[in-house]
Amino acid sequence: MLEGRDIWVSYPGVGAVLRGVTLRLRKGEVVALLGPNGSGKTTLLLTLAGLIRPERGEVLLDGAPLWGQLPEARRRIGVLFQDPDDQLFNPTVREELLFALEQLGLSEEEKRRRIAEVAELLGIDHLVGRPTHALSVGEKRRVALASILVYDPEFLLLDEPTANLDPSSAAQLVRIICSARAGGRGVLIATQDSDLALALADRVAVLQGGRVVWEGERLAPDLLEELKLARGRLSCGEQ
Ligand SMILES: Nc1ncnc2c1ncn2[C@@H]1O[C@H](COP(=O)(O)OP(=O)(O)OP(=O)(O)O)[C@@H](O)[C@H]1O
Ligand SMILES: [Mg+2]
Repeated sequence: MLEGRDIWVSYPGVGAVLRGVTLRLRKGEVVALLGPNGSGKTTLLLTLAGLIRPERGEVLLDGAPLWGQLPEARRRIGVLFQDPDDQLFNPTVREELLFALEQLGLSEEEKRRRIAEVAELLGIDHLVGRPTHALSVGEKRRVALASILVYDPEFLLLDEPTANLDPSSAAQLVRIICSARAGGRGVLIATQDSDLALALADRVAVLQGGRVVWEGERLAPDLLEELKLARGRLSCGEQ
C-alpha cells in the first residue's frame, strides 16, 4: 500500500497548499482524485511519488517511510506528469522507452520484447523511431505513459491522463487502467474528468483548498453539483 498520512506541503511565497491530507492507495484499486484548479492534486501526486518532501506528515510504502526506501522504490511507483514535456527528455521515443529498462539489468531481447509490447498496447509503434520533441501533445502523453508502463511499476500515479487524448485513445487508456487494476496494480488518477472518475474509480477523494473534503465509493451526480465539480451544459448564458 502507498499511503500519505497528514501531509503538509507549502511553496515559498504561496503558503500551505496541502493541509493535513491523508490518502491510501491499495494494490488492485483505482482511486480518483478530483478538485478544482490549484487545489493541490499535482502536489499530492508528486509527494506520494517521493518527488516532494512534505514538511509535516509522511508517505509510507508498505508501512515503512518512503523516503528511507529511495531511490530503489522509484521503480515501484510510476508517475505520469501533468505536462508531458516534464517527463520526456530523451531524443527519441525508443530511447525514452529504453531509459528505465536500462536500470533493470534486462537482456537485449527482453528489452526489445517489452518495448514492442508496450508500443502495441498504446498504439505507438509508428512513433518509436521519431524524435520526442516533434510529437503532438496527445502523442507525447501516450509515449509518457508507455515510458512508465514499460517497467511495470506496482503503483501508477496519473496526473490528468485523459488531457489531450482523442476519444479512442481515452477509451484505450481506460482499458489499460482496468487491466492494471486486474493485475494487482494500484492506480491513482488526478483528474478534472468526473466521467472518468465515475466510470473507473473504486474510491474518489475530493481535494479543496489543500484538504480532502469528501472521500467515498459512490460519487452521486448531486454531490458533484454540490462540490462544484460537475461541468454541466456549456453555454454563453444570458446575453
Ligand atoms: N513549484 C511551485 N511553486 C510555487 N507554487 C506552486 C508550485 N506548484 C504549485 N504551486 C501552487 O500550489 C497550488 C496547488 O497547485 P497544484 O498544481 O498542486 O494544483 P492542482 O490541483 O494540480 O491544479 P490543476 O487542476 O490546475 O492541475 C496552486 O496554487 C499553485 O499555484
Ligand atoms: Mg495539477
